[in-house]
Amino acid sequence: MKIIQADCLEWMRKQPDNSVDLVIGSPPYAEKGLRYKGNRKVISTDEWVDWMLEVTKEAVRISSGWVLWVVNGSVKNGQYLPACEGLVWEWYKQGGESERSCIWHKNSLPSNRAWFINDWEFVLAFKKPNTRPLFNWKSVALPPKRDSTLAFSHRDSRGIRMSTKKSLPNKLARPRDVIRVTVGGGHMGHKLAHENEAPFPLKLAKHFVKVCSNPGDLVLDPFVGSGTTLHACNETERKGIGIDVRKSQVHLSKKRLKDVNMRKC
Ligand SMILES: C[S@@+](CC[C@H](N)C(=O)[O-])C[C@H]1O[C@@H](n2cnc3c(N)ncnc32)[C@H](O)[C@@H]1O
Repeated sequence: MKIIQADCLEWMRKQPDNSVDLVIGSPPYAEKGLRYKGNRKVISTDEWVDWMLEVTKEAVRISSGWVLWVVNGSVKNGQYLPACEGLVWEWYKQGGESERSCIWHKNSLPSNRAWFINDWEFVLAFKKPNTRPLFNWKSVALPPKRDSTLAFSHRDSRGIRMSTKKSLPNKLARPRDVIRVTVGGGHMGHKLAHENEAPFPLKLAKHFVKVCSNPGDLVLDPFVGSGTTLHACNETERKGIGIDVRKSQVHLSKKRLKDVNMRKC
């Protein structure tokens, strides 16, 4: 595993095309997150979309597979600011290709906002045009809960009942695009995760690393924080590179990986 202190955009610009197999990470959020470059400041949703468009372009260029961002939009003065939708829309308008986003259902803590508690985040998925990157769903699939040989039926526009053909028995059920992984103390995969202000849980990183890369592949997290993605790579026999612009986070992820490796011995 390699952990480097750098601005991820500057670092990725120096890397050759297709030099990693998967990019996965969680960027700082618009309006809330700090973009730790130059003078530290909270960036607006507009600025975030422009910046993340450049980051996504570079990530897609250097990845031979998927580019996945775990990210949320913010609400300011009662107004939802559509950073994620803005990024996907700008990407699409510029001829980029993406998959339908997955939803990470995270079981958040209660809040007092006069609206439903936000219980999920987007997992945005980008790729090179006309490619179908690795999708090894069987690596995370479980046996079906119901009899997979039953035929489904529905009514057509004339009201006539139609029946689908019976399918062959499935040993495994294809996973759905809502991924339930709880957050909070005891669920993050490592106690040091809490030293980053917005870590994602190990289980979530492992889920996507397993589906979107093969053992031995090289996975990049350009916003490595506490090193969750590298921890997931370590547990699934992938190689990993983590970038973070802050020295404190580079130290943190190194410390976490050292601890993970010590526990293995
Ligand atoms: C949401 S946190 C990532 C948390 C990580 N997924 C984890 O589980 O610990 C975002 C990280 O991006 C880093 N970051 C912010 N701007 C960056 C930039 N321009 N280049 C590289 N890293 C950056 C921050 O220092 C922060 O650690």
